[in-house]
Amino acid sequence: MNLIPKQSVGAITALVLGISLTVGVSQKLVTAQAPVALSNNQKVEDVFLNIKSLRGQPADMLNPTMVFFEAALGVGCPYCHDNDANKRELDSKPQKLIARRMIDMVTSINKETFNGARQVTCFTCHEGRSTPIGTPNVSGAELPPALGEDYLATLPPPPPVPAMSAGQVLDKYIAALGGANALEKVPGLTAAGTVTQRRPGRDFPSTQIEIFSRVPGMGLSVTKAGQNDNLLSYGATGGWARAGNAAPRDLRKAEADGTKLEDPFNLPAQLKQTLIDAKLDHPDVIGNREVYVITARTQNLPLVKAYFEKESGMLARLVYYTDTPFGQYPTQIEYSDFRDVGGRKVPYQWVISQTRNREFTYAMQTVRAVAIEDARFAKPAATAR
Ligand code: HEC
Ligand code: HEC
Repeated sequence: MNLIPKQSVGAITALVLGISLTVGVSQKLVTAQAPVALSNNQKVEDVFLNIKSLRGQPADMLNPTMVFFEAALGVGCPYCHDNDANKRELDSKPQKLIARRMIDMVTSINKETFNGARQVTCFTCHEGRSTPIGTPNVSGAELPPALGEDYLATLPPPPPVPAMSAGQVLDKYIAALGGANALEKVPGLTAAGTVTQRRPGRDFPSTQIEIFSRVPGMGLSVTKAGQNDNLLSYGATGGWARAGNAAPRDLRKAEADGTKLEDPFNLPAQLKQTLIDAKLDHPDVIGNREVYVITARTQNLPLVKAYFEKESGMLARLVYYTDTPFGQYPTQIEYSDFRDVGGRKVPYQWVISQTRNREFTYAMQTVRAVAIEDARFAKPAATAR
């Protein structure tokens, strides 16, 4: 730590330069002859050289404030300050300027929103990370570590983005499923199985589910809810849902895009057209399998990440983000138990993990290749209650 009071810096500088200081420092500095002990009623700006946002705070609060900044962001002094530890007054790093804006923001939030009570701190958002997270995680997913820059410096750099296109990865995926011809030959798929919800500390009974899926782009799932069926359907022009006997409602735009991505049967045939601006990202690892990562968006979803196994080419995981004015939240689908149906591969199990600790396991008992008539997907008329 290097906390040199303003007077001593001024005195030393004036000695070294052999001139009197008149620019950029207070009059008090120029007249100060020797280092002075911090007295209780001195303000930060009376003692230190370049104080803008902390003006009015007691001078002896500066040191603990800096320690708090370090702790809140998981960084050391040179993250914000000049590498020369004797020049803390310099504004030579952008982080120091950002930190000033942050100080002003926190002061104003607490003043305007919390009647002056110190409710929001640097740690409220940062939680030990230089960049706050901002996006909630799906059930079971780990958050990035908050172990500080020393720890982060020990991590290996991410592996380079492979020199291939997203289109090549998507083509390999189609080939791994049996090829475009095999996909086209299967007119539609119907499946029957169960869906089981899990939440930590809470068990739910499994529910029967039936799925009807037809290329291009039509899907319907029917979940048994007691005497009634819950219906969820999407098509080329949006989708609809009906809970039990209630009137059917149209899906929101983003919800329709999400429902489409959640249909594991039609996904291969429509993924390429659905993804916009698809790019290859740094490769990752799921379990012990290396995966290619594609990032993209859809018409109504701001971000989709698709993870393809390097070796097999198969889609292992898909994560899509739903936008709100206050943030985005993810939904994750992981696929397993691929089997052959009518010459193409189909996952018999997939797990949809949501935020708020919700997880749904879909396990199919039968999947059959059949033709499905249009009427199956028609939105039901509102029934009188
Ligand atoms: C997150 C960024 C950040 C970190 C980390 C940080 N500081 Fe600061 N520091 C600031 C800002 C911003 C100011 C100026 C405050 C103002 O303008 O009111 C400042 C001012 C200072 C000053 C007053 C300099 C002067 O004469 O004007 C000293 C001394 C100082 N910091 C020391 C430290 C030390 C020592 C550490 C490590 C223990 C540290 N700081 C860590 C952001 C940081
Ligand atoms: C309301 C939430 C919030 C609070 C409170 C907050 N920050 Fe931040 N801070 C952010 C966000 C968000 C970013 C990232 C902005 C970006 O990436 O463009 C950030 C970025 C920063 C950065 C730049 C990090 C980098 O290297 O890019 C510094 C430094 C910083 N904050 C310091 C502070 C300090 C010091 C405090 C307390 C006085 C504080 N922040 C309080 C939200 C917050």
